[in-house]
Amino acid sequence: MSKKLYIKTYGCQMNVYDSTRMADVLAPLGYVESDSAEDADLVILNTCHIREKAAEKMYSDLGRARLHKVAHGEQGKRTLIAVAGCTAQAEGEEILARAPYVDVVVGPQSYHTLPDLIKQVEATQKSVVNLDFVEEAKFDLLPESLQPQGSGAFVSIQEGCDKFCTFCVVPYTRGAEFSRPVDAIMREVETHLKQGAIEITLLGQNVNAYHGLDEAGQEIGLAALIKKIAQFDGIERIRYTTSHPRDMDDELIAVHGEVKNLMPMLHLPVQSGSDRILKAMNRKHTAADYIAIIERLRSARPDMAFSSDFIVGFPSETDADFEDTLKLVETVGFAGSYVFKYSPRPGTPAAEKAEQVPDDVMDERMQRLMKLISTQQLRFNRQTVGTVQPVLIERLGRKDGQVIGKTPWMQSVVIENAVHMMGRLVDVRIDEAYEFSLKGEIVGQQARITRGEAA
Ligand code: 5AD
Ligand code: SF4
Repeated sequence: MSKKLYIKTYGCQMNVYDSTRMADVLAPLGYVESDSAEDADLVILNTCHIREKAAEKMYSDLGRARLHKVAHGEQGKRTLIAVAGCTAQAEGEEILARAPYVDVVVGPQSYHTLPDLIKQVEATQKSVVNLDFVEEAKFDLLPESLQPQGSGAFVSIQEGCDKFCTFCVVPYTRGAEFSRPVDAIMREVETHLKQGAIEITLLGQNVNAYHGLDEAGQEIGLAALIKKIAQFDGIERIRYTTSHPRDMDDELIAVHGEVKNLMPMLHLPVQSGSDRILKAMNRKHTAADYIAIIERLRSARPDMAFSSDFIVGFPSETDADFEDTLKLVETVGFAGSYVFKYSPRPGTPAAEKAEQVPDDVMDERMQRLMKLISTQQLRFNRQTVGTVQPVLIERLGRKDGQVIGKTPWMQSVVIENAVHMMGRLVDVRIDEAYEFSLKGEIVGQQARITRGEAA
């Protein structure tokens, strides 16, 4: 008898990946993923702790899951509720105190224990908590059988972070930096390619700090790993996310000019343009360092485009500091970016600072920065109008017959009457550009990139 599993994923791509792995590990117990919590036998909330809002959202969703559990119980059936992810790691037992109807609390390093935890709850009817840190074992202990992810697949290559930016919970919730061995990554990439993926995104909290062991027991960096992966037949697109400016080494910059199927779009968070704030954030780079990296990447590959994360209102940020951020944005010219209001996180050094910035000041800075970035994003998107771009068709659009695909620069392209092209890489003439999307028409099939071809 199959059981219904509903997973709600919050936050980053790493959580999206982990959710697929939780589904893998639960499949042998008969759990099949469903897209509704209503009649689920097991509801998992895979949570994010990065900002306060994300953590609070979890509690309101838990309240809703409880209603399903009660309704299901009235029909004589049992629904289990599990909290996974970074809020589980950070709050642990506290979650059970606030929501005693939760059955399982499991941290991101312990997903391989989920089947045992579920069996334990079923046998004892008591809630269980597992927050163990077993970094290197995590990936090894998860099953290799993977659910097909479609034309674009994510592969986690690295987890955790040793950088300790003073605003960030990641080093506490995900633990120390750990890189997966090369052979395990290569096997996973190969499985996805066999299942029909043509785009592979390498994931890690600090992905360019990657330093895994290869078959000969030598440590290799992200640049060497990308070159190896680029050799697979059928791999059309490679991406990696998220990177830290400190780890953009010469070899990695050079790879952008050497490997054609490494996409020319990089998400490289800078957080602020003020050296004083960057120092207080413990970022270990200046605004000038960041700009120099962008320039070097642009000379390695002239069509490179960039996006970033920004935090406005970090403790003690002045108007002058904020002006420096606007200046950096003007200098770089982004294809898009995320702007966050600083959110004090329990246990992080910045949360203890006395000089917290008032909310209305943060709001105003956020509006100004977002406006500037929107202008740049629209300008970037408009440059494609009239050109023909390779687009990977990924999902259905809102209207009948409509599909949505991605350009090399992660721009969403809406195309009419093209459902038959799902999962394919096609040539699209771009006709219209908006801030968050493009519109276009298919004019041909993409020629495949041949192995190891230079950019
Ligand atoms: N407050 C606001 N934004 C944060 N981020 C991380 N921690 C915080 C925080 N405490 C942002 C950073 C990071 C992105 C994933 O989330 O910009 O790059
Ligand atoms: Fe957090 Fe900084 Fe590590 Fe990124 S690099 S995960 S922002 S501590």
